[in-house]
Amino acid sequence: MTAIENGRTALRTCTLGQLSPERAGEAVTVVGWVHRRRDLGAIVFLDLRDRSGIVQISCGPDWTEAESLTQASDLGAEDVVRVHGTVRLRPPEARNDDMASGQIEVQALRLELLGEAAVPAIPVYRTPEEELPSEELRLQHRVLDLRRPELQQNLMLRHRLVLEARNYFHAHGFVEIETPMLTKRTPEGARDFLVPSRVHPGQFFALPQSPQIYKQILMVAGFDRYMQIARCFRDEDLRADRQPEFTQIDLEAAFIEPEDILVWIEGLMHRLATVAGQDAPLPFPRTTYRDVVERYGSDRPDLRCPIEIGDWSPVLQGRGLRIIDGAIDAGGRIRGLVVPEGAGISRKEIEALEGHAKKAGAPGLLWAKRTGEGLSGPLSKALGLEEADRIGLREGGLALAAAGADRITGPALDAVRVRAWEAAGGRLEGNAWLWVVDFPLFERGEDGTLAAGHHPFVMPHPEDMHLLDSDPAGARGLAYDLVYNGTEFGSGSLRIHRSALQRRIFHILGLEDGEIDEKFGFLLRALDAGAPPHGGIALGMDRIVQRFAGAASLRDVIAFPKTTAARALFESAPSPVRDEELAELHIRLRSPQGA
Ligand code: AMO
Repeated sequence: MTAIENGRTALRTCTLGQLSPERAGEAVTVVGWVHRRRDLGAIVFLDLRDRSGIVQISCGPDWTEAESLTQASDLGAEDVVRVHGTVRLRPPEARNDDMASGQIEVQALRLELLGEAAVPAIPVYRTPEEELPSEELRLQHRVLDLRRPELQQNLMLRHRLVLEARNYFHAHGFVEIETPMLTKRTPEGARDFLVPSRVHPGQFFALPQSPQIYKQILMVAGFDRYMQIARCFRDEDLRADRQPEFTQIDLEAAFIEPEDILVWIEGLMHRLATVAGQDAPLPFPRTTYRDVVERYGSDRPDLRCPIEIGDWSPVLQGRGLRIIDGAIDAGGRIRGLVVPEGAGISRKEIEALEGHAKKAGAPGLLWAKRTGEGLSGPLSKALGLEEADRIGLREGGLALAAAGADRITGPALDAVRVRAWEAAGGRLEGNAWLWVVDFPLFERGEDGTLAAGHHPFVMPHPEDMHLLDSDPAGARGLAYDLVYNGTEFGSGSLRIHRSALQRRIFHILGLEDGEIDEKFGFLLRALDAGAPPHGGIALGMDRIVQRFAGAASLRDVIAFPKTTAARALFESAPSPVRDEELAELHIRLRSPQGA
């Protein structure tokens, strides 16, 4: 039995959630926070709250000691009290079916005030009509906000998911090993948080962006199945689905192929989904990166929306629309999607969709509607009924198209695909899981230089080894992402386990030997110590909990999160440091603090 189930401690006999009609007549001692107080003449009702539930305490002249009765009327919201009393069934007219404990109350014999609360800056008790205070205010008063049952549920779900993940991997022979927080850089594409060394002037540790290199070294060291609930730090521009400090379910295994990882993770997700009351039918579908980007314009499509993108260039070329012909002449394509019930979408809504396409980088959207009266809209100039049939635009439908290079049309159509579906009344139902495999090994930047597609340790696809010299940007890696309802849950790959190949990849990325040895010498030396083929994956714990809990934000599943401006409001961090303290760290600021 866990502690909360047998809630007895030195100060209480049970938790509030353990009180039930079967215990009527029992003498109990309970503790909790005053959720709300109501004075009804001589009788005072307190709703007492702990994390297991809320129970009504009644104090009255016939059963409560006089001093305690006076004290009860003085209690304020969020005071901490201990109550000695008796469990009673409420009279039928006083029963409350909205409360789990609505059939009972505790008649207080005596009260003790264990901790006084100042008037709460934000209310913990709210009527259903009352709106939540602003998020900024709630983050400033996190101690009170964390008492909200929704946040308590989220953090308890998080605990159960972490526990399930640990148990699952333990049962599969994985060993949890802690990797350091004070590290050398392990590049994952974001900026590092640096920690100055006091004893080594001018030198810095980095907080880990992930345990990537360490977990690979553990494979070389012979641990063959590693996992860790790992804290990671990335100083990157924040978005809704990112925190500067976050948690991964991180794993790595030796003597494997991608299939091993995919099957392990499917088993894990099935278990986690079950704990959270979600479904995860196995196996998850798999698609290659090339295919998914062609069909959905994104490498993490929400497959609850069935609309796919098509290449309409052969149908629409040479039909008199300059935008289309110009884009095709410049080496681009005209790609589009059809919203089957979309003819009812208003002009205004189409403009809003176009706004999203523009935000994603497209100059605009072309559209056509097909109704009983025929075709309308700018794109209809290039469409006859035969062409409409060929692109799949039937009566009642709306066609949306973008012209240009794939790197423009893909994101633009991705930005409108789900929105247009929803605007036409489509619903996103159930859960859609997807593996995307065979990611490109490199990305070519605007300036033509190559960067690692994910990180530089990904094993090239064996069929593409020959491209490493001739066309590196065309080479695939043995890399895979797990996508859930349009969110990237996790990402991993097989790794390079031979130092010569690793060095070659660094060269392709433009690194010189000196820099390679300075930055990655410790990894290369490890690979030279007899390295097994290995690979792994990391899943975003915060994202998983958020999605499974149906929480609006990552901040709702992290006890002490940062704002989108990367600040901790409750404890006010980051904060300035005095010059003497900086001097100890051999640091002098170039401009005054706060300037
Ligand atoms: P990657 O960088 O893709 O891979 O991260 C893996 C998963 O971690 C989650 N994640 C985040 N969650 C919240 N806030 C963030 N700032 C954030 N950044 C990432 C995402 C993501 O899918 N070492 C590799 C994994 C590997 O190759 O084994 C890595 O860290 O859910």
